[in-house]
Amino acid sequence: MKPRPMIAGNWKMNGLAASLVEARAIADALAQAGSSAEVALCPPATLIGQMAEALRGSPVLVGGQDCRAEASGAFTGDISAEQLKDAGASLVILGHSERRAGHGETDELVVAKVEAALRAGLRPIVCVGETLEEREAGWAIAVVTGQVEDSLPKALDGKAFAVAYEPVWAIGSGLTPTTEQIVEVHTAIRGVLKRRLGASGEAAPILYGGSVKPSNAAEILHADEVGGALVGGASLKSADFIPIIRALG
Ligand code: 13P
Repeated sequence: MKPRPMIAGNWKMNGLAASLVEARAIADALAQAGSSAEVALCPPATLIGQMAEALRGSPVLVGGQDCRAEASGAFTGDISAEQLKDAGASLVILGHSERRAGHGETDELVVAKVEAALRAGLRPIVCVGETLEEREAGWAIAVVTGQVEDSLPKALDGKAFAVAYEPVWAIGSGLTPTTEQIVEVHTAIRGVLKRRLGASGEAAPILYGGSVKPSNAAEILHADEVGGALVGGASLKSADFIPIIRALG
């Protein structure tokens, strides 16, 4: 079974209450003409509640960008998966390279966060990706498949999560891998998922992320084993994000 594609926007640390007009414009566009994709927006935590409210009744899902593994406790400044769910989120990005690099997140920690997300009823989008040095050294496939192996819990249902391949060097840089490179990595990720999860490993969409924009979306989204996109900068403006959704056809 081929998974339903997903187009998710990661707003990162961008957006104020005024930015909710962009979310509403995306919902309006989907109301006018639906999409074969599941569409999600992951705003900063400060906007999750308001965005969920603004998108009530629309098919656009709301997600978090990270969560703590524990459900509650003395963890100043952190947010649990249960709290994201309570605020209106239905998915959460985990293991983004900006958290792995900037907050020292290890594969082991990502596993604990994935388990927390599943416990809370959130769908995790688990991010993996090689650095430029790793790609130039010929290690891209080994690094990415190793991250997939080590960032997922032992027992997992393929329908309960998504993987996002985000080469670190493609994020925010305007650079993208060739379609062949994307297909090679996605095919390797699918191989790991099938070996780990059996037939259920076919059910998880594998998103591509890193400088996706209206001009390159169609080619990327129609490549083999690409099950959608995780979009950063181009998800902040509905005028960019809507054509990316439409590029799926
Ligand atoms: P850009 O689309 O801005 O390159 O960001 C990609 C990303 O990191 C999404 O999580």
